[in-house]
Amino acid sequence: MKVIIVKDNAQGGKEGYQLFADAKKNGAKTFGLATGSTPITTYQEIIKSDLDFTDSISINLDEYVGLPEGSDQSYNYFMHKNLFDAKPFKHSYLPNGRAEDIEAEAKHYDQIIDDNPIDLQILGIGRNGHIGFNEPGTPADSKTHKVTLTQSTIDANARFFEHEEDVPRFAISMGLASIMKSKHILIEAFGEDKADAIKGMIEGPVTTDLPASVLQNHDNVTVIIDEAAASKL
Ligand code: GLP
Repeated sequence: MKVIIVKDNAQGGKEGYQLFADAKKNGAKTFGLATGSTPITTYQEIIKSDLDFTDSISINLDEYVGLPEGSDQSYNYFMHKNLFDAKPFKHSYLPNGRAEDIEAEAKHYDQIIDDNPIDLQILGIGRNGHIGFNEPGTPADSKTHKVTLTQSTIDANARFFEHEEDVPRFAISMGLASIMKSKHILIEAFGEDKADAIKGMIEGPVTTDLPASVLQNHDNVTVIIDEAAASKL
């Protein structure tokens, strides 16, 4: 893993942007995208730039299951607000969390990933080391699947909802094997509450207890973290 330690989230966004710019320059066509607060500064730098994605494909990691149609908490809404409205892609895929048959939707999503190999995948990390919505215990060979969210993730994400009970209990997420197929993976983390997860991811054993540790088995991972997230290394 190549680890880049930055001063803060803003500088992290500039470094993250640079990876997107380099990937585009080198012919990348398909970008794996993430939600959460972490990638926002990278998306802001992309929006400020003259990068053009109208010939590119995007594939998002995950989506909540069971939100009402048009919910402004959905990851679909998040992506439009934070990136797509300003930087449209030729085609943007997100898992459909409102599909009647989530298992069928998961299979369909894996086919999309197989048909559009991801050149650069951006990831955040949960406090418990989850990536996408792959919670501790998720097998390394997992593909896109329905997830039952842990209480730790529900608590962490409650800040975006009016009431804790409004946070969905389920999601659909690319699996760890789906993520590991990406040619280049960029994982970002900012803030002290990510320090334990980052330490485990980089220095700990590869274990399903900390899903992000599987990235040690990938040969092209760039980690962009601020000093607080790096404080336990
Ligand atoms: C959510 C998302 C993840 C994200 C994580 C961290 O659970 N499914 O993709 O990485 O939260 O979020 P944040 O970046 O807001 O800390």
